[in-house]
Amino acid sequence: MKLFGLFHKKEKTTLILPQHIGIIMDGNGRWAKKRGMPRSAGHSAGARTFRAITRYCNRIGIRYLTVYAFSTENWSRPKEEVDAIMKLFHDYLVEALEKFRSENIRTRFIGDLSVLSPELLSLIAEAEETSLHATGMTLNIAINYGGRQEIARAAKMIAQDVREGKLLVNNINEKELSKRIYTAEQPDPDLIIRPSGEQRLSNFLLWQAAYAEFWYSDILWPDFTTGDLDRALEDYSKRNRRFGGV
Ligand code: FPP
Repeated sequence: MKLFGLFHKKEKTTLILPQHIGIIMDGNGRWAKKRGMPRSAGHSAGARTFRAITRYCNRIGIRYLTVYAFSTENWSRPKEEVDAIMKLFHDYLVEALEKFRSENIRTRFIGDLSVLSPELLSLIAEAEETSLHATGMTLNIAINYGGRQEIARAAKMIAQDVREGKLLVNNINEKELSKRIYTAEQPDPDLIIRPSGEQRLSNFLLWQAAYAEFWYSDILWPDFTTGDLDRALEDYSKRNRRFGGV
């Protein structure tokens, strides 16, 4: 299939790019199984794809990218696999800290991070601080993230504000809830991409995805290329978004 190569195209593209893309990086395990390799090898390959896609999104002018790296449900996987994924986060953070200046990507972590190791937490804090003033894309990495957990957390914050007299019950509305989710201050995702053939949201950005367009594909995440992203973007560009109107 022809690759569109959006970024490399000489003529100016007329595609309408999404401001915010969400990606469910799925299919690492199946990719490894197909090759007779351990699941952790699939995650390592997935981490390489993550790096390439992140860099590409920043280069073509995507303003926000949110990737689902580890869900609140993923802890039920074998310890060996969880440890391998945590090591990949660690290695990425160490590498990213060296490259932040040249890549100009503002990196943030969303989810209940309190359960992560002190070492990871300290790297995350350093990464967020070092990249805080980057002017390129904002990258949200969702770790120990669950959409329901995020909404419950926002509801708890609202209850606390009501109890402390900072918010009137009558003033509780969508805007107040939006202010208390992890991606407050950011536009909602316009496009959610899920490779590997599954057609589910799996607790990803439940609140934010209310009007997002979806793009599914059978490609397993480690095999996902910038050409596949181009295809998703071209498809997105043709969609007629009505936001409930006509
Ligand atoms: C889902 O595939 C993938 C994960 C639970 C882990 C995603 C993690 C990475 C891509 C690692 C690197 C990330 C960063 C931020 C460095 P799966 O294992 O459920 O695949 P399967 O459905 O084929 O089993």
